[in-house]
Amino acid sequence: MIGAMPNALSTTLSHVYPLGSAINAAGHLELGGCDTLELAKQFGTPAYIVSEDDLRARARAFMDGIRTRSLAADVLFASKAFPCTAVYRLLAEEGLACDVASGGELALALKGGFDPKRVYFHGNAKSLAELRFAMQAGVGHIVLDSLDDLTRTEQTAAELDLTQEVLLRITPDVRGDTHAAISTGQADSKFGFGMAEAPQAIDQAAASEHLKLVGLHCHIGSQLLQLEPFQRAVTELAKLGEFDVYNLGGGLGVAYTEGQEPPSIADYLATLLDAANKELNARKILIEPGRALVANSTVTLYEVQTVKHNVSTWVGVDGGMSDNLRPMLYDAPYEVANAGRMNETGGEPVILAGKHCESGDVIARDVPLDDPQPGDILVTPATGAYGYAMANNYNGVPRPPVIFVSGGNPRVVVRRETYDDLSARDV
Ligand code: LLP
Repeated sequence: MIGAMPNALSTTLSHVYPLGSAINAAGHLELGGCDTLELAKQFGTPAYIVSEDDLRARARAFMDGIRTRSLAADVLFASKAFPCTAVYRLLAEEGLACDVASGGELALALKGGFDPKRVYFHGNAKSLAELRFAMQAGVGHIVLDSLDDLTRTEQTAAELDLTQEVLLRITPDVRGDTHAAISTGQADSKFGFGMAEAPQAIDQAAASEHLKLVGLHCHIGSQLLQLEPFQRAVTELAKLGEFDVYNLGGGLGVAYTEGQEPPSIADYLATLLDAANKELNARKILIEPGRALVANSTVTLYEVQTVKHNVSTWVGVDGGMSDNLRPMLYDAPYEVANAGRMNETGGEPVILAGKHCESGDVIARDVPLDDPQPGDILVTPATGAYGYAMANNYNGVPRPPVIFVSGGNPRVVVRRETYDDLSARDV
């Protein structure tokens, strides 16, 4: 649920699907006015299909929601969620700022048109080369993660004879309810300064000739479906003194399956900004959504290759862990539907298996599909966040294209990888 929004797009499908998606007269899934079976025919499978209108609507929900408040505020696209030039470009157009977590993401953000001054550079293990690149590019803020990171950032700024604005990443010892691999707010985290260490880091950054400390950052974890931990994190940050800027991170969860009801963007913003108003004497609040901006904008199309029955029914498709690692890494659930027979309900529970050489390469378990056949086009919704981002070439499988759809027009923004691409870096 995206929450109260002017000109909200709606969908006749569950809230897991992109806004504006529908079932057309032929019973096919339609996205951005495009029939997904036609898309599969034209561009092949697997393919990431992105509803441009959905992406813009969510960006506007964040921007409008944050701007109606009294505090100065900015929305940063946590670009690790979908680091694709076309997505950077679209969100830059919508007026967002950007969070990058490596030199590579920075290069993409600049290519996508972000003003370097509106880029925030993160990382627990930034290299000196990355720090130099960020400063030479004129990155507005660097988020410091440890005392070593602070020292190295200071030395790099001194070497380049400039003053770098910085924030300190704080680990407030607040745990949200999420998978351990994506929980970051606990005291024993690889990220940030613990509450005990923070005062020393604050003093050291404040005293530095080449660093200008403007504020604090915290990001307690990802795919959080409750708002209370966000409030607690603000309470912890308030204990560290007063700063101009607070970056409250990302982490708002999304619906991957119909039964999941994450907080709306509006409720999330209200909770965060009320807590900030009450507890922080800030000049500016920043937030860094990744998943909640991009996840539900996108679906992945696959073609069924094989169907086999033993103890279970195994539906083998032409993608898997090379285009979506999340089921394997986090036991993440996904829904599956037959894109050409969207009106069908029920069916036997099947296992949607990827094409890779591991038993763990399963996209979804116990998903109902009515008589799936080789050649059918299947769809898994909510694949926009960390799908393309973590795609890989296991088994030499070329990565899928990214196709934007809007107003009945498809537009390839990243082409499918070729077999030649697989050896393109050979020397
Ligand atoms: N800010 C910082 C400093 C972060 O580390 C992250 C995510 C975000 C913002 C955005 O969080 P989001 O709004 O997307 O929850 N690969 C995992 C997710 C890793 C998240 C890493 N950090 C997954 O597929 O679930």
